Amino acid sequence: MVFTEAEIRKRMQKYGTVYFPKDIRDKDEDLIGIERNKEILEDFFSSLEKYKEYAIKLQEVRITPSITVLLYGPPGTGKTSLTRALAKKYDVPMCIVDADKLVSPLLGDTLKNMRNVFELAAEIAKENRVFLLFFDELDAIASERSNVHEVGEIKRGVISFLQIIDRIDYEGIPLAIFGATNHQNQLDSAVWRRFTYHIWFGFPNLSVRKEIIIKFLHRLEKAPIEVESSIYRRLENEEKQLLIKFEEMKKKSRNLTLLDFEDKQKSETGLLSITRGYTGADIERAIRVSLLKAIQKEILEYQDLIYAMQFVGGTRSHVEQQSKLSGEGTENPSAKKMTSSTASTSKKPREI
Ligand SMILES: Nc1ncnc2c1ncn2[C@@H]1O[C@H](COP(=O)(O)OP(=O)(O)O)[C@@H](O)[C@H]1O
Ligand SMILES: [Mg+2]
Repeated sequence: MVFTEAEIRKRMQKYGTVYFPKDIRDKDEDLIGIERNKEILEDFFSSLEKYKEYAIKLQEVRITPSITVLLYGPPGTGKTSLTRALAKKYDVPMCIVDADKLVSPLLGDTLKNMRNVFELAAEIAKENRVFLLFFDELDAIASERSNVHEVGEIKRGVISFLQIIDRIDYEGIPLAIFGATNHQNQLDSAVWRRFTYHIWFGFPNLSVRKEIIIKFLHRLEKAPIEVESSIYRRLENEEKQLLIKFEEMKKKSRNLTLLDFEDKQKSETGLLSITRGYTGADIERAIRVSLLKAIQKEILEYQDLIYAMQFVGGTRSHVEQQSKLSGEGTENPSAKKMTSSTASTSKKPREI
């Protein structure tokens, strides 16, 4: 029996939000500076399409592709939107599972919910071609089992997640399982290992931030909102100045990355300096804030954009404050855990 769209929506909504390609507005070309991640995922999505043809035969020889992907890194760096954009591009229906809907304070309910959502998704994938289950905030259901603060219900969540994910692999069902987390250090290491692909999304460097800002401004200009031309000029100048300094410092330490260089800079007043430690999502929020002023004045001015950027603040300082409070680091944990993965973007957090 092939599931209709309405049935899928109705049955899945208990666990999260269903997206059919036509519901999705994200576009991969709007996401800047994550080309390597795009390439890996584009490969993944295009193979997924053909997977079903081979699934049964591969199952007979007991080698099935593992179609599990873990996306990790700070919030607002494009994990969800890139997945959605590619699901649209490759015509894959998906459900973003809401951790709040799975984890229940009632004994046994988490396990039941988890089993149900996987079974339903697997059934849909078998009947309808492919399906993608996206666990947002995976850490909320799959935290380190050794963490003494965790209640039993969450530990059971981890265990059932592991059991179920193993079964899906071997049955060769064309169900892609994605997990996303901002708290990779809290993720149970057995869960971490179950994912074949580990893909890191980091903070954008100054050149990428410049591109992101310009992309948003161009979108506004289509609206059409007038953008003060000095914004573009100042962005280019500031980037040029900073890159010159960077090249100079690189002569002394050859392995210096642009992000490391930025950390060594004293605070300056330009847009790129202000947005150090900002994600694409932070920049987007600031653009929205400045837009109100722009509509009033009928032009978006440099000063208003600066003000909006300062006003929204950056994710990195927020994450650092939080991790100080909880004793958790903000580092990529790959060095410790990634050795078991068969595919990863790099062993170190990759600078984008
Ligand atoms: N690299 C990027 N380039 C452009 N915009 C970005 C980028 N990363 C994030 N954004 C903006 O932030 C929004 C939210 O990002 P999202 O995918 O929800 O982040 P995450 O899932 O990593 O928390 C995106 O829809 C996009 O508008
Ligand atoms: Mg997200």
